[in-house]
Amino acid sequence: MIQPDSYTRSLLKRSPGETVTARGWVKTRRDSKNVHFIQLNDGSSTTDLQVVLDAGVVSEETVAKITTGACLSVEGELVASPGKGQSVELKARTVTIWGDADPEHYPLQKKKHNLETLREIGHLRTRSNTFGAVFRVRNALAMAIHKFFQDRGFVYIHAPVISSSDAEGAGQMFQVTTLDLAAGKPADFTQDFFGRRTYLTVSGQLEAEIFALAFANVYTFGPTFRAENSNTPRHLAEFYMIEPEMAFCDLKDNQDLAEAFLKSQIEQVLAECRPDLEFLQKWYDPELIKTLEHVATSSFERMTYTEAIAALEKSGKTFEFPVHWGVDLQSEHERYLTEELLKKPVIVTDYPREIKAFYMRWNDDGKTVAAMDVLVPRIGEIIGGSQREERGDLLQQRMEQHGMDLKPYWWYLDLRRFGGVPHAGFGMGFERMMMYLTGMKNIRDVIPFPRTPGSAEF
Ligand code: 4AD
Ligand code: MG
Repeated sequence: MIQPDSYTRSLLKRSPGETVTARGWVKTRRDSKNVHFIQLNDGSSTTDLQVVLDAGVVSEETVAKITTGACLSVEGELVASPGKGQSVELKARTVTIWGDADPEHYPLQKKKHNLETLREIGHLRTRSNTFGAVFRVRNALAMAIHKFFQDRGFVYIHAPVISSSDAEGAGQMFQVTTLDLAAGKPADFTQDFFGRRTYLTVSGQLEAEIFALAFANVYTFGPTFRAENSNTPRHLAEFYMIEPEMAFCDLKDNQDLAEAFLKSQIEQVLAECRPDLEFLQKWYDPELIKTLEHVATSSFERMTYTEAIAALEKSGKTFEFPVHWGVDLQSEHERYLTEELLKKPVIVTDYPREIKAFYMRWNDDGKTVAAMDVLVPRIGEIIGGSQREERGDLLQQRMEQHGMDLKPYWWYLDLRRFGGVPHAGFGMGFERMMMYLTGMKNIRDVIPFPRTPGSAEF
């Protein structure tokens, strides 16, 4: 096992003269007359460790196996590096080949591969510089999220993955069953594993509400599933969502928390992952760091849905989906608002009740609900949330309007009967935030194993 002081990232910071063992996979090997230069990395660093192997130190046969993708240990002495980019390099004394990688067949050669091609080699793309940077950022982002909530006393809860309710009421769920549906008979779900129909959860919100009405401030962070057939660069069938839920909280508090949350994530990742962000900026988005720094320090715009519609109508643009009060905002509308009109994140609130989920709190105007969507440039919607309907009678009315069967939601309605309180929350798509932070343009490139319509390899 690699000890913390022997990760590539740590070795690069140690002093000349130390004897160390480096382990990892070969990025490249370059040969000059009497010396081989090997770039070695264990995934911990944007910069590789340069290994200098003098001719004759190891056998010809061993040298032949030091090719891109091979796994090695190298023991030797750290020496001051004349090259730029690193202060030390490793002068090799012994080399152990753990696994070679036949250059005839190893698909990840030195040249730059496009991201689509790399997706087809999901078992190896992890070793590329791009995915090294992306997945280090992903790790740091997960920690930043926990830190944000833990620092504020929120309780982390695990919402169930298998659920019997459709939290979003959108009916885009994957069914979970052990019944043999191929038998051709109408399925009797009372005979199914759980004695009822069950699905993969689309959101942990309803369960988070149970916990918020006992622990006040809580959050979930787990996988959610949507069987929507959206083959876009922003949709996954399996994605991670963070859902804070707060008792004693209204829509204004909810917006303030969402804004602080996004800024905190940016600040923490900028501090933790600078070299990775610089790498991603160089290859994928020349404005990346500037944009992130700008967002972390400026205040978000806030407007109501009604104001947003007015702005869209005034824009003079022809949208594919025409705009008028009552329509749901499409990606093109969201992007116009945040990218062109305001050029910064915007929180849009108070949407028409017909286009939003049943649990959102009815506003006094009778037409809108206390919803909020946070829109950011390049991505569009990154957060969706609301104040919840805490008034039992109105909630029931809303559910009936949505044509829902109330029975399975008896416990959700109970929360309004016993010790209810105004409460609110939101959901942030973890991968949408990853796209925002890394500058990657396709959501398939920020999750280890993307699930999209027609695709679940690896
Ligand atoms: O807006 P959504 O559907 O909201 C909810 O699920 C609420 N229950 C959240 C809450 O109030 N607790 O989803 C929340 C966020 C979206 O803003 C988006 O960032 C992300 O989840 N998201 C997706 N990300 C990737 N692929 C998909 N198919 C996504 N659907 C939603
Ligand atoms: Mg939404």
